[in-house]
Amino acid sequence: MKIAVVVGTRPEIIKMSPVVRALKERDADFYLIHTGQHYDPYISDIFFKELGLQRPDIHLAVGSGNQGEQTGRALMGLEETFKKNGTELVLVQGDTNTVLAGALAAAKMGIKVGHVEAGLRSYDLRMPEEYNRRLTDHLSHLLFAPTEQSADILRNEMVPGEIHVTGNTVIDACDQNMELAQDNAEFDFYLPGDFVLVTAHRAENVDDRSVLRQLLEIFEGIPRNKVYPIHPRAEKMFKKAGLYERLKNIKGMYLLKPQGYFEFLVMMKRSRYILTDSGGIQEEVTSPSINKKVFVLRDSTERPEAVSSGHAQVVGTDPDTVLRAIDHFEQNKWSPGICPYGDGKAGERIVGIIMSD
Ligand code: UD1
Ligand code: UDP
Repeated sequence: MKIAVVVGTRPEIIKMSPVVRALKERDADFYLIHTGQHYDPYISDIFFKELGLQRPDIHLAVGSGNQGEQTGRALMGLEETFKKNGTELVLVQGDTNTVLAGALAAAKMGIKVGHVEAGLRSYDLRMPEEYNRRLTDHLSHLLFAPTEQSADILRNEMVPGEIHVTGNTVIDACDQNMELAQDNAEFDFYLPGDFVLVTAHRAENVDDRSVLRQLLEIFEGIPRNKVYPIHPRAEKMFKKAGLYERLKNIKGMYLLKPQGYFEFLVMMKRSRYILTDSGGIQEEVTSPSINKKVFVLRDSTERPEAVSSGHAQVVGTDPDTVLRAIDHFEQNKWSPGICPYGDGKAGERIVGIIMSD
């Protein structure tokens, strides 16, 4: 069976890497396509190098654009690529525009779709990702749900495909790379000994000037060092709002370029706690090798399992609420539960299912 593995953004490269590793181990007939949704080296190439992934066999250079523009370019490029290569199964991961384009192109061509990380729902319709997830799940023939909870969502929605609970490949990626990261992370800046790690990039946050102001108030209210590897979208929007200088000048703020995976793993491990609106980071912190508290700067999460395990707390972006939650954490003992996202063997499990299908 000829398999196309599609990636387009930073988290897809990271989370698909255990699947690619398992495909190689089984000598599967596959090829790797990068849509080029993410293209700057520090948010794309570096992950191929660090994760030991082959260079993509096909690069579509889709780049940035409006939702329809970006999804449309990926759809056209992927359709042509699938056709040229006699593709029989397309694997996509997550909820980006690349994922929807891959699933839609394949399904309409009668090619099977396997969705890695199926069944996540935030029920927040301001998020482009929520549409991408829902549509991709309903287009897929094989749905790899990370948890029983996500599988239940899929069953309740009566998706037509086969549902398999596999764990989340992000835990595999942490397990496979933490030791390597600790030996090989290279920091080209001074990393303070005691710090809070921050990331924020979601459109519903950084595209809204009033939320940017709230984020600044939150960072200003934390009397610790703050390390913030800033996503290009967030950098662009802080600059556009005329708030970048204020961000840079916050006391104890270390504003960095986006970091490689090795560097970011080490930073998560060394941090006191994390503030983020990222999806993947909410999962990673539950990995036994990281085990950190994360304050989710959003009104909802599609990762309720991380909330139940005590790792994630959804706090929104109101500065008073966020700072109160942080203060409570600082003053009290924290004992999280076990990792809800599996045993680090999701990639092998997914490939086992594909090969026996
Ligand atoms: C995308 C995903 C989001 C995911 C995130 C991972 C969608 C709808 N969103 O958001 O779910 O959490 O990736 O990081 O698919 N840019 C650069 N260099 C790059 C890439 C982007 O400067 O290499 C800038 C451009 O100004 C671009 C903006 O970032 O317009 C947004 O990029 P885009 O890929 O549209 O969405 P992300 O915010 O990265
Ligand atoms: N990450 C990274 N360097 C950074 C920030 C994040 O390697 O500077 C990794 C992080 O470990 C996680 C993934 O990128 O695996 C999360 O990506 P992002 O937050 O961009 O997307 P999301 O998960 O929200 O879709």
